[in-house]
Amino acid sequence: MSELKNIPSFRLIKTFGRLKGRSLSKNQKFGLSMLKEKYDGFLDTKKKIWLEVGFGNGHHLVELAKRNCDKLIVGSEVYENGVATTCFSLFQNKIENARVFHGDARELLHLFEHEVFDRLYFLFPDPWTKKRHRSRRLLSSPNIEYFSKILKSKGYICIATDVEDYFLEIENTFSKLYQFQKLHVLPKEKNLKFFLDLKTKYEQKAISKGGTPSYLVYKKV
Ligand SMILES: C[S@@+](CC[C@H](N)C(=O)[O-])C[C@H]1O[C@@H](n2cnc3c(N)ncnc32)[C@H](O)[C@@H]1O
Repeated sequence: MSELKNIPSFRLIKTFGRLKGRSLSKNQKFGLSMLKEKYDGFLDTKKKIWLEVGFGNGHHLVELAKRNCDKLIVGSEVYENGVATTCFSLFQNKIENARVFHGDARELLHLFEHEVFDRLYFLFPDPWTKKRHRSRRLLSSPNIEYFSKILKSKGYICIATDVEDYFLEIENTFSKLYQFQKLHVLPKEKNLKFFLDLKTKYEQKAISKGGTPSYLVYKKV
């Protein structure tokens, strides 16, 4: 997937903050070398493919891969430290059914001009709470349209957020998209058929601050 870096970038509104954090540890540097060697490969598989966008420290991605050996689990993340930690963890756990794209997930559209993913995860995307930053939301209406192009029909989009107005915005956008059917009835209840019984870093943060996340599932019909 690294060949994407050679494609002239098209104009997309930035949905992320930092690309790099503190200097990489020895394990993280090793993780990045493994990205090139092992996890950056092309998705040539007969397995169903699930994509997690913005996987952060990769805790959920690694667990998703461990528990779903019959699927290929792909993660996309722009933050180098997160990518490095995740690749190290994939290697440590001897996980073979995972691939990592270090970059903006929307660039995947250049690679796949057709519907390729069976499931998409967006867990606690950056909320961009200031009004003037709203257009940066990963799940803005134009971005949802981008992502729906790479989702197969009968595929699912699984979303979690603890920000109430983001939740309402997402519901509103999907309600206007005839190709999606809403599956969640009680968004405050986590449907374990689609979400793992573990908490991501940002889920833990939200809950420890007294927030109650919403969990949404949409099916492409
Ligand atoms: C608030 S964090 C949540 C991380 C993790 N999902 C969790 O729940 O702990 C959002 C993450 O999305 C990543 N991100 C934002 N826009 C992205 C994009 N266009 N493509 C890939 N990753 C993106 C950010 O770098 C950040 O790590």
